Order: sequence, then C-alpha cells, then structure tokens
Amino acid sequence: LYVIHIAVEMAPVAKVGGLGDVVSGLGKALQKKGNLVEIVLPKYDCMQYDRIHDLRALDVIIESYFDGQIFKNKIWVGTVEGLPVYFIEPLHPGKFFWRGKFYGEHDDFKRFSFFSRAALEFLLRAGKKPDIIHCHDWQTAFVAPLYWDLYASKGLNSARICFTCHNFEYQGTAPASELASCGLDVLHLNKPDRMQDNSSHDRVNVVKGAVVFSNIVTTVSPTYAQEVRTPEGGHGLHSTLSVHSKKFIGILNGIDTDAWNPATDPFLKVQYSAKDLEGKTENKEATRRKLGLSSADIRRPMVGCITRLVPQKGVHLIRHAIYRTLQLGGQFVLLGSSPIPHIQKEFEDIANHFQNHDHIRLILKYDESLSHAIYAASDMFIIPSIFEPCGLTQMISMRYGAIPIARKTGGLNDSVFDVDDDTIPSQFRNGFTFLNADEQGINDTLERAFNLYEKNPESWRQLVQKDMNIDFSWESSASQYEELYSKAVARARAAKR
Ligand code: ADP
Ligand code: GLC
Repeated sequence: LYVIHIAVEMAPVAKVGGLGDVVSGLGKALQKKGNLVEIVLPKYDCMQYDRIHDLRALDVIIESYFDGQIFKNKIWVGTVEGLPVYFIEPLHPGKFFWRGKFYGEHDDFKRFSFFSRAALEFLLRAGKKPDIIHCHDWQTAFVAPLYWDLYASKGLNSARICFTCHNFEYQGTAPASELASCGLDVLHLNKPDRMQDNSSHDRVNVVKGAVVFSNIVTTVSPTYAQEVRTPEGGHGLHSTLSVHSKKFIGILNGIDTDAWNPATDPFLKVQYSAKDLEGKTENKEATRRKLGLSSADIRRPMVGCITRLVPQKGVHLIRHAIYRTLQLGGQFVLLGSSPIPHIQKEFEDIANHFQNHDHIRLILKYDESLSHAIYAASDMFIIPSIFEPCGLTQMISMRYGAIPIARKTGGLNDSVFDVDDDTIPSQFRNGFTFLNADEQGINDTLERAFNLYEKNPESWRQLVQKDMNIDFSWESSASQYEELYSKAVARARAAKR
C-alpha cells in the first residue's frame, strides 16, 4: 500500500507530545512491513533541523487557494527516521509556521486549514497516487472534507481517507464562516449531519467533519473508543460517533522500540537491559547527581513523572503525589511544562519551594534528553490522568524498568494491569492502578508500590524485568491499521467495478 500521513507533529523533529511519537512510530512500522510511506508536515522554524537528513528544496512551487487568493508554497524534502518527509513552506505574509512554536497561536484554525489545503494541492500537483491519506487530529482533519469537496473528482481520486483522533478534547471549532478560507462550502457543510458543531448552530467542528467524511476513523485505544461514545466522555461528539460507529475503532498505540531502547539509548549514562539491571542503578545515580538530589541511599525509590501539565493529566493528583512520595521516604522528579499560565505558575511555585530539597526536583520545560534519563532513573512512574486517549509514558516507563502507577482510564486501562488484581491472569499484571480520581487512589497505589519495593526487593526485580520484556512495539497495531487500509481500498475498488 501507498500511505501518506498529513500531520502537524513528527518525532523527533517536531514533537509536542504523543502525536509526534505516533506519526514516526506508526510510519516506520508500516514502512517495515513493505508499504510505501510518506509524511507531509509544515515547515516550522522551530524544528530540530539537525535531525532531518538531506533536506533540500524541490524545484517546484505549489500554488494553493486561501482567503480568495492564490499563494505560493515552497516544498522541501528530507528524511526523518528513515521516512521521506515533505515540508510545506507557505510563502504567505502571515508567516504561518515561523512563530517560534508549534501551536497555541490566535490563528491556529487559519494556519492549519491553510496547511491542509496546501498539502492536498501538493499531492495533486506532484502526481501522487496514494491508496490512503491518513490525517491526524483537528489540525489536519480539514483534509477529509477538502478531499471529498475539491479533490476526489481530480487526479487524487483513488485515495481513501483515514482519520485518527488522538484526543477528542481538541476539536477545532470556529465560526462557520471561517471554513470558507480554505475553500470549503460553508452552506453545504454547516449542517447537523456534516460539520456543524453539536452545541452551536453557527459554529463548525473540524473533528466532526473528519468523522463524517473519512472512510476510516480511529482513536488510540479500545477503552477510549468506548468512553467517547458516552455523553460523559465524548466531549459533545458521542452522538456523531454513534451514528458513524461502523467505521470507528480504537487501536492501541505502540512505541518506537528503536527510539526507546535502554540497551542502545544514546542519552543514557550507561545502557542496560532486563538481564543486566546494574546499569539502571548507575543511571539513577547519575540523574540524582545531575539534578542535585541526595545520593545517600541508593535504595530510596525514585518516582518519575513526564507530562504536559494540563487538566487531562490530573495535575492536582500529580501535586498530591509529590507530597505523598516525600512522606513515604521517596524521591520525586517531574519533567513537564504547561501551556496554561496559571498551572505553569503553580508548578513554578512548587519548584521554587523545593529548589534545594534533597529529594524533590521539578524541571518545568520540554527536554528530550532529560526525559530519557528520567525514564531510566525512575523506579516508579506516575500517570494519574483524568482521561487518557492512549498514553505512551506508561509503555516507555515499563520499557525502562520504571513501574507505572496509573489511573484506570482510556489507554492506561488497556496497558497497565494491577499486580494485586487476581481477576487478571498473572502474566499480564505489570503495575499499580486506581479508579477514583482522588487522593485516596494515589495514596493507596503509592503505598502498595513502596511496600513491595522496600519489603520484597526480589519480587520488585522480577516485576521490573517482566515489564522491560513486554512487547510494546508497533508490530501488531500497525498490522491492524494495514488491515483497515486494505479493506477500505478493496471496498473502493469493488464499488468502481
Ligand atoms: P500526550 O500526547 O497527551 O502529551 P503521551 O503519553 O501520549 O501524552 O505522550 C507524551 C510524550 O511526550 C512522551 O514521549 C513523553 O516522553 C513526552 N514528553 C511529555 N512532556 C515532556 C517534556 N517536558 N520533555 C520531554 N518529553 C516530554
Ligand atoms: C494524545 C493523547 C495521548 C496519546 C497521544 C498519541 O496526545 O493525549 O493519550 O497517547 O495523543 O496518540
């Protein structure tokens, strides 16, 4: 199959969170299975250019429509993680991707509708004939209605559209008139069964549009796919998802096991594996020294947390876990940052309060290399999310031998199984879980984890080794995507005959 992903993140060059990991991880896995995979990204100024190989401008200029005018786009091509990537640089006076950051601009709706249209225009003009165009999240959800309204009748007509929603909290809504900027027909689309927002007649919802107009709609875990079909979990889209439930499925993400491998990880002080855990202790020691934490007692457990600090992630529970860990005699390391000023400020205050503390460190920024060091150093890893479409940090932490302590929701419910839950076959039990999003849940799981760690080091070691050996690779999930793609392509061919 020939699969083109149109996305706004890709690890490691343009990553904000898990979306970036998924685009490169799934892309690589599909490529490894023999598919032709290409990625289309915006050309941001703030990308990690040193991780793009052979970047060069193509000898073409692609013209695309926006706000009643035609704009030129320069197209660049390079290789990221072995995948061919096209970067679109709009020569638009709005400097859409020259803002020093990926998202969070007042004109995000405009920037990404421009990108979605320009990406399709590029595929058409470059003569690409993909079997599947796979778009991700609201920023490229425009691709689905654009494709059927404007491109399906042109040379791109063999493609099927797959849309993956990584988080239904972010839907891309705007006054209906704004759809016209990228050339979509507002009158035709602002209807309850098309793109009209379910709670406002004069607003459109781009994720809803992609659910309606894609051939395949996925989200990133089976449990989350159930949750979003309910009024409590669907962020207003549960009825739409129910109408389109036949084409909607939850597939659990994997992780890129080459990028996340303690046995080869270049960011670690020493590499290690399940067979040789000495190296994990050395990494703990090194990270403590680097962060200025006490190294007096090597057996003192380290609890890690690496996250965007947004309400979804249970920020009040993370804050509680910091204090509870201290009471229990552990060390806590948080690496995270928040796009929400009052949350960032709240954590800055906690960080300042514990500035010279022997056992607590909060590092409030995005730092890829430090994230690897913390996964390797941690004994436990906390993820108390209020909701979690999939979550990758529980899988990464297990691969690095840090035992997850997680709330049973979304993808966490599909990947973390409590060591004390005898309704689950023992071979699957790999962490500590709690259900209620309250302090009691944190207290109970932290206490049980500390208890096992301190009183039964041998069982703990076995748990660490077991978690490190779990297969979280993309292998089986990529096969599920491949199967969905193939079926959609086969249906399209049958319909043509
Ligand atoms: P989400 O996509 O909702 O943020 P995921 O668990 O799917 O959550 O993915 C988070 C990814 O981002 C992981 O790869 C994690 O290591 C990384 N990450 C989160 N915060 C930071 C940070 N401050 N510095 C470095 N990496 C981070
Ligand atoms: C989103 C979700 C997260 C998921 C990631 C990758 O950011 O919040 O749960 O793991 O996308 O699919």
